[in-house]
Order: sequence, then C-alpha cells, then structure tokens
Amino acid sequence: MDNFSKKVRVFDAFPKVAPEHSVRSSRGGLSSVFTILFGLFILWVQIGGFLGGYIDRQFSVNRDIHSSLDINIDMIVAMPCDTLTTNVMDLTSDNFLANEVLNFEGVDFFVPPYFNINNENNHHSSSNLDEALEGSLRAEYAIKGQHINVDAPACHIFGSIPVNQVKGEFFVAPKGAVFPQRRRIPESSFNLSHAIFEFSYGEFYPFMDNPLDFTAKVTSEKNQVYNYYAKVVPTLYEKIGLVIDTYQYALTEIHHPARGRGSAPPGIFFSYSFEPIKLSIREKRISFFQFVSRIATILSGLFIVAGYFYRLYEKLLVVLFGKRYVDKDREKKEGGILDHVVPIKKDF
Ligand SMILES: *[C@@H]1O[C@H](CO)[C@@H](O)[C@H](O)[C@H]1NC(C)=O
Repeated sequence: MDNFSKKVRVFDAFPKVAPEHSVRSSRGGLSSVFTILFGLFILWVQIGGFLGGYIDRQFSVNRDIHSSLDINIDMIVAMPCDTLTTNVMDLTSDNFLANEVLNFEGVDFFVPPYFNINNENNHHSSSNLDEALEGSLRAEYAIKGQHINVDAPACHIFGSIPVNQVKGEFFVAPKGAVFPQRRRIPESSFNLSHAIFEFSYGEFYPFMDNPLDFTAKVTSEKNQVYNYYAKVVPTLYEKIGLVIDTYQYALTEIHHPARGRGSAPPGIFFSYSFEPIKLSIREKRISFFQFVSRIATILSGLFIVAGYFYRLYEKLLVVLFGKRYVDKDREKKEGGILDHVVPIKKDF
C-alpha cells in the first residue's frame, strides 16, 4: 500500500466489521424488512409528490398595477329602481356613470333560501387552487345600461363597472340621501334590505366564491346604513399553463341606523382599498435532479436512524431479559474461527 492510501485510511469514517465476526439474527432480518418496507412507502409518497407537484404560495410587491379593473355586481335591493341612485366615488374625481353601465330591472324582492341572511360574513376562506380553476369560466354581462320596470317593488342591479385601482366606494342609496338630487325619496319609503348574488373585483368569474356572494340583509327598520369594507388582494392562480389573474377580498361589515342630518347617510356602501402586494398560488414541480437527491437524503437518513433504533432495541432486550435470551436465537455465522474448536472441558 502506498504512502498516500495509508494516510487516507486514517480518515475512513465508516465502521467496518470483518464478515467472519458478523452474525445474522432473525430480529435483525425482520427489522431490515420493516425498514425496507418503510423506505418503499416513503419512496411511493415522494414519487406521488413529484408527479403531482406542490403548491407554492408567494407574496410579492404588486408591480403590475392595472390602472382600472371591474367591480362585478349582481344584487337585489328592496326598493323600486327609480327611487335608487348608485355611483362610485374614489380618490380620483372621475365620473363613473354607474347608472349607464349597470342594468336596473324591476322585480319582486326575494331572498333564495340558501342565502346567508343577516349574518356577518367575516369568516370566509379563500379558494384553493383547484377550486379557483373549477371556477375559471369567465363571463361578461351581455347587456349594459338597461332600465326596465323601474317602478316594480324591488330592483335587480347587475353589471360591471370599470373603476380605478385606488381606494374608493360603490354605493346604492335612496335618491337624495347621499347628495342633493332633484327627487328626494321620503324616509317612509326606505327599505335597504338587499340580497347579493355576486360581488367581486377584476375579471368576472361567476363560479368563483367571494365573501359577499349569496348573502343577504333583511331589515324592518327604515333608515339603515350598511357598510362593507373590502381589502382587496390581487391574486394569481396558476396550474399547468392555466393562469387566473383575479382579486380576492377580506371583508369587514358594519350595520347601524342612520342618525339623521350630518352623519352617515342611509344606504348600502361598499368601500374598497387595494393591497400593494400580490398573492401567487402556483402549482410547481421540483426538478428530477432535486427529486433524486431528496430521495437519497431521506433514504440514507432512514437507514441510519433504523440502525440506531435496532441497537437501542437490542440493548433494551439485554436490560429486560438478560444476555442469554438475546443470544439464544442467533445463528452463528458459518466458518467462524471458533466453529471447529472442540470446547475443552476443564475439571477443577
Ligand atoms: C323590506 O322588505 C322586506 C321584504 O319584503 C321586509 O321583510 C321588510 O320588513 C321591509 N322593511 C321595511 C323597512 O319596510
């Protein structure tokens, strides 16, 4: 052996036992079988994870601030259309003409039985990736600015309003209540009960679930203020090439009677502000090389730990039942040095 290999041998970190000294036992065999089965199980789980990908959630600063986006609305308010006024007010002094882009259709007031009525809707869980993709059918309201049966008892208001991506408010209120108007509706005909079928920001995905969807408020009091404050978070869902760029919101609601002149006017107010961050929920896959090295790490760790446990178990048996019990079912390795030595009987 040359000088170099001698020096290198000093660093050999792996304990070795010459084969003639090692002994196989049935307990050892069994624990190896369990270890291997467990290893195969882990391998199976990992391969499943590798093929199925994993969900990666990330927040980032929202770089692509769209200057405008839609608010999609579909609701029924328990007052005739011609007694209501709707509009958007925001930090810019743009005029949004909600009256011209939304549709107003006179109907009877009704709340479908599956609606969440008069509850706060603060506990909403945002959709996960698969739910989002299931709801990824886009739609648009085909009609705009339609006003029909405006004197029917309730008003179905629906459509999309393009707004600026800044803090703002959309409201529905009795005419003359928020700002002076030619026609002022007397308090005796107020009914601010409402049912919301859809309230969302961004592109209109009718099947996506939003905190205000399918909720309603019914009141027998006249002069009411309903405030919905939404914190809107731009959200991107992505899975195998399918991208849904949308917005989700967290909601806080406040409802109280309007306290007359100078204080909050009666009406239904949807305030919104946009978070400067963007949430991305993507399905990703690790590379094959990463996958292989992960498997190698896990399996080698598994065998080392299994070895520790085996030795611990053997020690425990020795402690509990004594050395004799532990050695009794060991089969000796064939060809050991002592195999053919006849034991010497010593008579003292
Ligand atoms: C508003 O209409 C609903 C449904 O018709 C009714 O239950 C409620 O009592 C009405 N409220 C007022 C203030 O008239």
